Amino acid sequence: MKPMGALPQEFSQQSGVLRIGRRSANDWAAKAGDTPLFVYDMAIVASRIARFRAAMPAIDLHYAIKANPHVDLLAAIAPLVDGLDVASSGELAKALAVKPAASISFAGPGKRDDELVAAITAGATLNVESEGEAARAFAVGDRLGRTPQMAVRVNPDIELRGSGMRMGGRASPFGVDAVRAAALVKTIVTAGADWRGFHIYAGSQALDPVAIIETQGATIALAARLSEAAGVAPPLVNLGGGFGVPYFAGDVALDVERVGEALSESLAARPDVLADTRFAIELGRWLVAEAGVYLTRVVDIKESQSETFVIVDGGLNHQLAASGNFGTVVRRNYPIAVATRMGHDVSETVSVVGPLCTPLDRLGDKIALPAVAVGDLIAIFMAGAYGASASPTAFLGHPPAVEIVTGV
Ligand SMILES: Cc1ncc(COP(=O)(O)O)c(C=O)c1O
Repeated sequence: MKPMGALPQEFSQQSGVLRIGRRSANDWAAKAGDTPLFVYDMAIVASRIARFRAAMPAIDLHYAIKANPHVDLLAAIAPLVDGLDVASSGELAKALAVKPAASISFAGPGKRDDELVAAITAGATLNVESEGEAARAFAVGDRLGRTPQMAVRVNPDIELRGSGMRMGGRASPFGVDAVRAAALVKTIVTAGADWRGFHIYAGSQALDPVAIIETQGATIALAARLSEAAGVAPPLVNLGGGFGVPYFAGDVALDVERVGEALSESLAARPDVLADTRFAIELGRWLVAEAGVYLTRVVDIKESQSETFVIVDGGLNHQLAASGNFGTVVRRNYPIAVATRMGHDVSETVSVVGPLCTPLDRLGDKIALPAVAVGDLIAIFMAGAYGASASPTAFLGHPPAVEIVTGV
């Protein structure tokens, strides 16, 4: 038997059936008309945002919509956050439908000219990733007769320790190396663009508060150093994010209150050049991962060489991350339950696999579950981020999963 992550505490059960928001898993499947489906409970998202606000000093909270760009989820989260961070013109269009352009920033290497046109026309901030991109943005601005709004994305000389995805402290396609950032700021200011400040993103999926605290402190110091070198104070410093969530056995949820206390102290003691600067944190998964459940139905149960396979109608085509093929080095089990037998005694060790013709399509590897029958619903938790939109949905031609947003 292999361990799996702890079930999120936000969910309850009634008469042995998982409840998500105000309905049972069976009701959600009936409402969807079919399985598999994702259910996102916005009440959970709202309570996480409230927790963030209570824990943090007076800074802005941005939602990185790459984590979950579902339109109903975006409409529900937009009024609760101060900004949206996007990574393509597709995401930009979705963000503009729910939030003013002034609160939208667009990051990502390789922005095409048509994407620069879309952002500059709308008045969104470009987090410029290179000198070349800045030059193209000026040219587009000239052509359109519009002043581009630009922040400089810095490839920091800091890494976020223990993060699942490091994006700083090394050669990177993301941002301009810290040693060249002040020069780019000067170029932007001299060219008459509306300089919005810095975007400094050092990594994702960190659970250690001390690592986040150290990174935030170093990021504030870096922003101050660069501002002094450029000779201008930044209106905004986006400190990145990196708040992780506990996917796996042994993971301990991030102590956000501790991070908030330390950030309050760092900001209170910030260098003078940042005295009038606003600060932002941009989060994806920490806001939405726990709010999502992927429900898939058992189609068959079979034995092979003394291993039991529970075969479900959903798989990595919808929920790639749970199969261990989205950014993890070692495959580990997400939290999984039999949604129709909650609270039943665990009695067997099974592998939960999808219908795809690849051994990669394994959602649960040798996990302990109650006795399962064909027709049961299996719940895979932590499915609110990097699920439907981060999975190869066209692979093998199965229909997409239904997505339902509730608790609005
Ligand atoms: C620039 C940027 N912002 C935000 C995020 C969101 O990260 P997470 O969902 O871990 O909060 C990422 C993730 O790759 C990113 O690259």
